[in-house]
Amino acid sequence: MKGLIPYRPYSHLTTHHSHPQVPQLLQNIYFAAGPVSQLLFTCNFDFYSSIMRIAINGTGRIGRLLFRRLITREDIEIVAVNDIMNADQLAYLLKYDSIYGPFRHKLDQDGKTLHVDNKSVSILQQKDPSQLPWKAMGVDLVLECSGRFTSKALAHIHIEAGAKRVILSTTGTPEIPLYIYGYNHPEISDAETILSPGGCMTNCSTPVLDVLQQIGWESAQLHILHSYTSRQELIDTASKDFRRGRAAAESIIPVEIDLFASLDRLFPNHAGDITTISTRVPVANGALADFTVLLKEKVSAREINELFKSAAVNKYKNIIDYTEDPIVSLDVKEDTHSCIVDGSLTSVAGRQLKLFAFFDNEYGYTSRIIDWMEVYRGML
Ligand SMILES: NC(=O)c1ccc[n+]([C@@H]2O[C@H](COP(=O)([O-])OP(=O)(O)OC[C@H]3O[C@@H](n4cnc5c(N)ncnc54)[C@H](OP(=O)(O)O)[C@@H]3O)[C@@H](O)[C@H]2O)c1
Repeated sequence: MKGLIPYRPYSHLTTHHSHPQVPQLLQNIYFAAGPVSQLLFTCNFDFYSSIMRIAINGTGRIGRLLFRRLITREDIEIVAVNDIMNADQLAYLLKYDSIYGPFRHKLDQDGKTLHVDNKSVSILQQKDPSQLPWKAMGVDLVLECSGRFTSKALAHIHIEAGAKRVILSTTGTPEIPLYIYGYNHPEISDAETILSPGGCMTNCSTPVLDVLQQIGWESAQLHILHSYTSRQELIDTASKDFRRGRAAAESIIPVEIDLFASLDRLFPNHAGDITTISTRVPVANGALADFTVLLKEKVSAREINELFKSAAVNKYKNIIDYTEDPIVSLDVKEDTHSCIVDGSLTSVAGRQLKLFAFFDNEYGYTSRIIDWMEVYRGML
């Protein structure tokens, strides 16, 4: 009977109830119950059998935001988090966040375990992913958020350690196929155990360039005004990339990015037609993508805006949003869209289009990772 042998028997009980006899006890109750009770019991098993067991590797900005967003869900169990930082530091940073405010749940730690409300999560401090106990912990999916293991070989170490699948939190190296949620995500196959879902800038720019394909475009120059990140310095510091070493909150700082390489892969017919640069601006969160696109034909700004209004409720529902309100970057904080097109700023000069889209580089992006988790849930 369905549910009698659940997909992963009693796995949800392992962290919430430590009594080893519980599974046997539940089986005894099941067999002692009448048919109606058995049916209810079975439904309950079906619910729990779909619980996805995840681990987060790297609890920086993205890893911690994912933790905060996922820990309260009943259909997901975060079995472990791994970072170099100690438990004290981790609990503190999960509790207090300068961007998203204090965490609204009870959170504590005892050195080895994080306690959030009635849930428990193992804290690991392991630099070498081959030593991570994913097999013993029955990990379905690793959210690889350290930014350190982005090649196929390195990400695969999580699989060798026993995880079934890995989602990177950036664009992986070219031997891992690149999928952007909403654009080409249905093409992913069951066999692809390591997912490269692009970065926040790729997730903003891909749907925009795709919508513009309805008119046709020849070339695109993208400039992403982006909040500062952990890859910059607070005060002037020696850095391989001179500008990244300059005080992040004091200057407007142009940095090189490889977004163009990701877009070349996603739009192979346009390989070489796209340039990208980012300017880091003195805000801690939020971004504004500035697109200059040479269209194949002359189209009015109004017609362009109509395309995006339509995309926002059709193909790119929940991914593109459209507004003509006079917003600023802070207004998109905690927005779940990959890009919020600001139609009030759209302009056209001849065949050259100027278009702007805001995004919350952390919240919007983690929303797509959560979308991808649902895709993988269907494959587990
Ligand atoms: N922040 C964004 O807006 C954003 C948006 C989309 C995608 N991403 C991508 O997401 C990734 C992470 O970005 P982030 O901003 O969250 O960076 P971050 O804040 O620097 O977080 C990375 C975390 O991983 C830890 N770490 C380093 N080596 C590790 C290891 N061997 N095992 C486990 N953890 C390790 C880091 O510790 P240390 O600090 O001690 O090194 C840090 O706590 C990057 O690839 C980035 O490009 C970021």
